[in-house]
Amino acid sequence: MTEIKPILVTGGAGFIGSNFVLDWIETESSPVINLDKLTYAGNPLTLASLENNPRYTFVHGDICDGELVADLLERHRPQAIVHFAAESHVDRSILGPEAFLKTNIDGTFQLLRGALAFYRTLEGEEKENFRFHHVSTDEVFGTLKTEDPAFHEETPYAPNSPYAASKAASDHLVRAWHHTYGLPTLMTNCSNNYGPYHFPEKLIPLMITHALEGKPLPVYGDGLQVRDWLYVKDHCSAIRTVLANGTVGETYNIGGCNQRTNLEVVTFLCELLDELVPKSAFRPHRQLIRFVTDRPGHDRRYAIDARKVERELGWKPAESFETGLRKTVEWYLANKTWTENVTSGVYKQWIEKNYGFRKAEL
Ligand code: NAD
Ligand code: DAU
Repeated sequence: MTEIKPILVTGGAGFIGSNFVLDWIETESSPVINLDKLTYAGNPLTLASLENNPRYTFVHGDICDGELVADLLERHRPQAIVHFAAESHVDRSILGPEAFLKTNIDGTFQLLRGALAFYRTLEGEEKENFRFHHVSTDEVFGTLKTEDPAFHEETPYAPNSPYAASKAASDHLVRAWHHTYGLPTLMTNCSNNYGPYHFPEKLIPLMITHALEGKPLPVYGDGLQVRDWLYVKDHCSAIRTVLANGTVGETYNIGGCNQRTNLEVVTFLCELLDELVPKSAFRPHRQLIRFVTDRPGHDRRYAIDARKVERELGWKPAESFETGLRKTVEWYLANKTWTENVTSGVYKQWIEKNYGFRKAEL
């Protein structure tokens, strides 16, 4: 009988990573090794249901630790690495870029180095099937004007925030490890995700949790910036599709074709909450909207052209923005303890220290 090789996931306790791990265990037969440092954004609680699952192993560690990476690869001999681990919040990258350069650039380098050394020890089918899948973002392409076409795979890189620059650097490293050393890489550049287990510092979960508590809803600048939204489970299915059938060395743009201004998103959320929490003392929730100081260097518009992944691999999102956002609000209403747990302690102290002027007062 052929042994089923695991996949090594990095950052699997974060928002997208945990959704991916849960989906993988449900839909695939191979085990998952999850390497995560458990920063403020990584929550083992999210994966509590897998605690006794023999197909799931959690490793508490840092992707920047080259020895640990080499040891894990040697011990578990994965068929693929799916690399999510990153510092992911643009506002934090503006206030403190160091951690972004460390994890997103050096961490990716350490993984690539370990992956290449491991790949070189493989033979036959194991070698042929091995993949390094780098999960990246549309922010590497910079910003669009209203009349510009959406980002496609050939759009030149023009990252604007420290976060985007660190992700762009990691994308370039992945490209180089394929081009120079022949590491079998795949890369996906995805637009804004939303859904369950999204840390409430990001727009959608922040607005839901603030609205439920009757706190102001801080909209940056004029609120007319555009993002292209994708339900997180659709991102997970896109990664599984690319991992299974993508062409080595290629990149694929992933998106849901759901361009909305931030103000439209927040207004829609308020309407959903008016409907789903009819007894709320804060109805109509839109009265909580406040326009606050804009994010420095704020990208005006992102939009993804996802035709390549549809044409070549047959992937399409299952959720519309309306169905996905309703599911998301319902999830936050049913899982208030999750939000309370992830926002207590370290996160609260950080937000008070760094955002004191803007968010803690709200
Ligand atoms: P997240 O911040 O919710 O989770 C990041 C995870 O990585 C956490 O579990 C954290 O503990 C872990 N981590 C951080 N530093 C680490 C380190 N040095 N070693 C090991 N683990 C570490 O992020 P997310 O929103 O789930 O994003 C996951 C990936 O997807 C990132 O690479 C991000 O750039 C990319 N992405 C995110 C979006 C989005 O909308 N959220 C869109 C496109 C691409
Ligand atoms: O595009 C993909 C990217 O999407 C990912 O690579 C990032 O990891 C992810 O964090 C996300 O980045 P954004 O900066 O677009 O997401 P954020 O939720 O921080 O903000 C979305 C928009 O909402 C942005 O225009 C800023 C605005 N905003 C955000 C917050 C937190 C507000 O107006 N008010 C807020 O309080």
